[in-house]
Amino acid sequence: MKNIEKKIIKIKDELNHHNYRYYVLNDPIISDFKYDEILRDLEALEKKYPEYKTLDSPTQRVGAPILKSFKPIEHRTPMLSLSNAKDQHEIVDFYHRVFKLLELKNVEFVGETKLDGLGVELIYENGIFIAGATRGDGYVGENITQNLRTIHQIPLKLLGDNIPKILEVRGEVIISNNNFTELNENRKKNNEPLFANPRNAAAGSLRQLNPEITEKRPLEIFIYAFGEITNNNFKTHFDFLEQLKKWGFPTNPYNKILSDEKKMINYFNDMENDRNTLPYDIDGVVFKVNSLELQNKLGTRTRNPRWAIAGKFKPKQEITQIISIDEQVGRTGIITPVANLKPVKISGATISRVTLHNQDEIDRKDIRVNDFVVVERAGDVIPKVIKVIKEKRTKNTKPYKLSNKCPICHSPTIKIENGALLKCSNISCPAQLKKSIEHFVSKKAMDIVGAEATINLLVESNLISNVADFYKLQENNLINLERFGNKSSKNLIGSINKSKNISLPKLIYALGIPNVGEYTSKILAEKYGNLNSLLNAKKDELILLEDIGPIVTESILTFVRDEKNLKVIQSLLKHGIDPTYDNSKNKLEKLKNKTFVLTGTLENYTRDDAKSLIENAGGKATNTVSKKTNFLISGSNSGSKLEKAKKLNIKILNETEFIKLFSE
Ligand code: IVH
Repeated sequence: MKNIEKKIIKIKDELNHHNYRYYVLNDPIISDFKYDEILRDLEALEKKYPEYKTLDSPTQRVGAPILKSFKPIEHRTPMLSLSNAKDQHEIVDFYHRVFKLLELKNVEFVGETKLDGLGVELIYENGIFIAGATRGDGYVGENITQNLRTIHQIPLKLLGDNIPKILEVRGEVIISNNNFTELNENRKKNNEPLFANPRNAAAGSLRQLNPEITEKRPLEIFIYAFGEITNNNFKTHFDFLEQLKKWGFPTNPYNKILSDEKKMINYFNDMENDRNTLPYDIDGVVFKVNSLELQNKLGTRTRNPRWAIAGKFKPKQEITQIISIDEQVGRTGIITPVANLKPVKISGATISRVTLHNQDEIDRKDIRVNDFVVVERAGDVIPKVIKVIKEKRTKNTKPYKLSNKCPICHSPTIKIENGALLKCSNISCPAQLKKSIEHFVSKKAMDIVGAEATINLLVESNLISNVADFYKLQENNLINLERFGNKSSKNLIGSINKSKNISLPKLIYALGIPNVGEYTSKILAEKYGNLNSLLNAKKDELILLEDIGPIVTESILTFVRDEKNLKVIQSLLKHGIDPTYDNSKNKLEKLKNKTFVLTGTLENYTRDDAKSLIENAGGKATNTVSKKTNFLISGSNSGSKLEKAKKLNIKILNETEFIKLFSE
């Protein structure tokens, strides 16, 4: 090895070590200034000798290019999730279940915190961090390597020895509560939308296509599990956790061996009591059988291991006061009461509004303006009012009744769904109109780029009074509007024209038929083939379709019989927006009842695109290889699925052969 290479390696190792002292141990031994100085030296050397610039260099944490999208990455072993125990009894049940299955009297567990962030996998080859992924659906995640690199706690090169050829570790990326507050304060200052909670902020940060943005977010990680390890000879989970520290990974300081049922319950209670003193959110604890041999014996159910369980804490509650109640009109005209609260913080998130759903809910809980209420927030779930504290009720409050007029257009409201919900009776209500246009132009619908920001302007200048009016617009209608110029007018008209070639499922979805989501839209497109036939749909046909029951049937029929809707649809057809969906003959029949599994990375298609290709041709794309699979489409870096398909004698196609299926 040349001297210069040796020198570069030495500097890299030195910096990686200081990085570990600073970010993992919180115990730096040199100043930031000194660190930056050495880093600059390294940068200069790497510039001069680019042949020695390697993946594990601390200079490689930043500066990666902006991506167009994340590539799929298949987990060599599935990333399972945990089954939940909702209270102490269920933890005890789990404990006894494990004993019974193993026919043993003594089993040791490890207690861990259940971190509320985003699960990720980190892959090391010969000790070098080469890739990282989100959990995704457990089988296929997204390749977010360059974002993970920006997290300084993640070692780019493992420390110490006993380094396996392949090491996959799994952990949780989180944002601490203090960092979360600061992040949101900064966003507020910059007029950027706020994150709802630390978990969303962490997830959003990791899914940035520009790693420069991720780099600025205060992400942290704790490692708690493994995927594949070459020659794995760990005896226990705790041994693994200890080795993680030696390799330079951050592990949670509350990991603890628990030798019996009582210790498990104590751990659960202690952590629940202490949860507010931790710098980050936890929503429970996790118990794992310590012996890896016993873990193997217990095995897994479909998605959860039998050797572990999450003991969930009760959702956090706070008391606050209702300041006022708003009535909001949605896309379908339904009016929802929403309470404005005196802001309270619950597990990191500030709650200032909460839906009260409908009049029934308000009556049942007797919720009034100025009442003190118990508000709860469980994980991702939207906050809710649990009850009113009647003892704190002030005088002069009165039961709350929703108005009988629409808050936006003041037309009378009507009762629907057996009186449970209120709806604005005016089908041209501007609130409904704007919401339905927003839906129509959205990415999953007509995907009219740039339209969303102009809806208010277009509606208020009377240029648009229904979604079909977009297709009447011309550049000279726009050019004189505030904020529009030559270029922006051209762009908007361009994306409107482009949307004319939309597929039938997307068009049906864009119409915004109540209760008809993307999947149902596809079913309808398959059945009816074009808009005109859908307009003539019959009740007994609809009800027989997959995923469509009496409520959806009613919803579709009401929609297509409505005069105003019919007019809009006719206008769309007149403007040439009349896609067909041919599922009857030729190539579309070809893949009917054929089941596909995709594995590895395709050159020309994202996984979603490939799935749509298959589904549009009548086939089915699933995640697991089984005897029922007809084809495995194998891209580069295929893993266990390819092996399994070979074993089961399933026809394997490469990308070219796959594409040929559609062109013949
Ligand atoms: S172990 C087979 N340990 O909870 C077990 N997961 O529903 C795999 N999580 O997807 C996970 N803290 O994102 C494990 N100490 C911990 C955890 C933890 C949080 C998350 C993880 C996983 C989900 C399980």
